[in-house]
Amino acid sequence: MIFFRHAGIYTIESKLGGGRYGVCYLARDPEGRRVVLKRFRPKMFRENSGENHHEAVILSGLAHPAVPEFLGVLNLRQGYFFILEYKPGSTLRSLLFRQRTEFTDEQIFRIGAQLLDVLIYLHSRSVVHGDLSISNVVDDGRQVSLLDFGLARYMDGGDISADLDYSCFGNVLLYLLYSRYHEQKFGAWYEELDLSDQKKEFLKRLLGLAEAFPDTESVKQEFFNCFPPCDDQSKPPSAQSNALI
Ligand SMILES: Nc1ncnc2c1ncn2[C@@H]1O[C@H](COP(=O)(O)OP(=O)(O)O)[C@@H](O)[C@H]1O
Ligand SMILES: [Mg+2]
Repeated sequence: MIFFRHAGIYTIESKLGGGRYGVCYLARDPEGRRVVLKRFRPKMFRENSGENHHEAVILSGLAHPAVPEFLGVLNLRQGYFFILEYKPGSTLRSLLFRQRTEFTDEQIFRIGAQLLDVLIYLHSRSVVHGDLSISNVVDDGRQVSLLDFGLARYMDGGDISADLDYSCFGNVLLYLLYSRYHEQKFGAWYEELDLSDQKKEFLKRLLGLAEAFPDTESVKQEFFNCFPPCDDQSKPPSAQSNALI
């Protein structure tokens, strides 16, 4: 339910989603450009005022086509908002559970490869996303974007590492792989899903059930070794990504 049509100079068009910290609205600026207004629950904002700003600080330091640009804040009677670049598409959650999409090998490969490009970018800047999930990825059929940096942190503190993003990435891949699985569930994913041993080992490594990956480039290398949908597995990653993405 939307209780107001305007927030400062912005006209609110619809509610995009809500979660832990508040509600996101799709809005237009006076020039008609689409933006997202992320409104914090007043209680959350007061109690976590230090925490809330991690998202703003981290996003402000990033520039990647698959990450929303941080455009500013609005401090109004209706509440406190972050203004974010709008990224088009549907969340993977909506594609899976509302639109009942069955993801093909091609789609899984494209989405996985694009997410890994974003993770390589983030990790090279010492940023761990920390909340990569099917609710925080949108896909427009050509390109994914990674949203919601509310739990993102710099690695310097030592208490958060890239491994967290690897296991979240593994979970997202499992959701996509399960979209084609319709039989009665009987066991663990590596028993239920019809996957090559190489893919199983890759997923186990992501999920912390086998030897950990040393870095994100190695994750991408191994993803390109075992997930390409066609038979040209001999091509190097760069040639494959140009051909398939
Ligand atoms: N920049 C954006 N572009 C498009 N949709 C967005 C954007 N930011 C958020 N959304 C939508 O709003 C939902 C909630 O936003 P999110 O940042 O994930 O907040 P929360 O912390 O509440 O999970 C997302 O799942 C997505 O559907
Ligand atoms: Mg979210």
